[in-house]
Amino acid sequence: MFDKVEILLSEIKQSEVGSKDELEAFRIKFLGSKNIIKPLFAEMRNVEPSDRKAYGQALNELKNAAEGRYNELLDSLDDQEQHTMAEGIDYTIPVPMDHHGSRHPVSLVLNKMISIFQRIGFVVAEEREIEDDWHNFTAMNTPEDHPARDMQDTFYLKGSTEMLLRTHTSSVQSRVMTKQKPPIRIIAPGRVYRNETISARSHCQFHQVEGLYVDKGVSFADMKDTLLYFAKEMYGKDAKIRLRPSYFPFTEPSAEMDVYLGTADDTAYRLTKGTGWLEVLGCGMVDPNVLDSCGIDSEEYTGFAFGIGIERSAMQNYNISDIRLLFENDVRFLKQFSPIL
Ligand code: PHE
Repeated sequence: MFDKVEILLSEIKQSEVGSKDELEAFRIKFLGSKNIIKPLFAEMRNVEPSDRKAYGQALNELKNAAEGRYNELLDSLDDQEQHTMAEGIDYTIPVPMDHHGSRHPVSLVLNKMISIFQRIGFVVAEEREIEDDWHNFTAMNTPEDHPARDMQDTFYLKGSTEMLLRTHTSSVQSRVMTKQKPPIRIIAPGRVYRNETISARSHCQFHQVEGLYVDKGVSFADMKDTLLYFAKEMYGKDAKIRLRPSYFPFTEPSAEMDVYLGTADDTAYRLTKGTGWLEVLGCGMVDPNVLDSCGIDSEEYTGFAFGIGIERSAMQNYNISDIRLLFENDVRFLKQFSPIL
């Protein structure tokens, strides 16, 4: 008799269920009105009188074990169900695609310009935004008393007259030229800072792309040719360019380049204020003083450089009227833009 009890006890302890039906089968077998334990109570009369007490206790324990195990199985089934609900997530259900990211208009313009210059052998150079006075100004032939150094225009680091936020990507020119020997052919995209009042038209931070080409025999004609290629790639095959004399401390001669878009097209008319000409970049032949400051022999080498402002191009290209929108990261604004083809 005791053997039967033992066998049932171990069966109860070892039983597992994987579904509600299996749990119900367990209940019916061990706890139901015709359960398997009941007949064992009837066996009492066949047990030796001296063993009856122990047998009765063993049966009660068996009953309790069945109840206890039932509750355990019920709990574990609940857990399993919660688990299968999580596992049962259908990863193939299509996701609404209205939250996917998009490129910032500034990045779109930057990337396009970078790829145009990479195609003709310019290599991307990136440098620090926190610069020293020497790389940003002195090496770039900008004298001590130049107004650009004024506290009004330049963000100096707190308590410093030496460290500043670079005011143009031209600081990358001096960084590269002091490290690298010619031939140098780099394109340097990046953020620059000027202490200007923020308005719809100007901001204290913006982006530029700097270009620098230094080698033996680099001429003004090489610069014109390179910039004409850029204008055609950027603004279309029919683009024409003109160079107007200008002044930058680090180039001599210096020029500003305009691109001819014409006036036939409504957008072109608006962008060029009816003149057909769009102001695009500053450029010039690298001043010999700059080469010498950076340890490049100006008797042996010449070069040209240019700097393009990105925000204005992005605003023109995407018809954005307020520069501040470019720095506010409003998703509703940002998701409107697609790549320039
Ligand atoms: N650094 C000039 C600016 O910020 C642009 C420039 C770069 C002009 C290189 C000439 C050559 O306006």
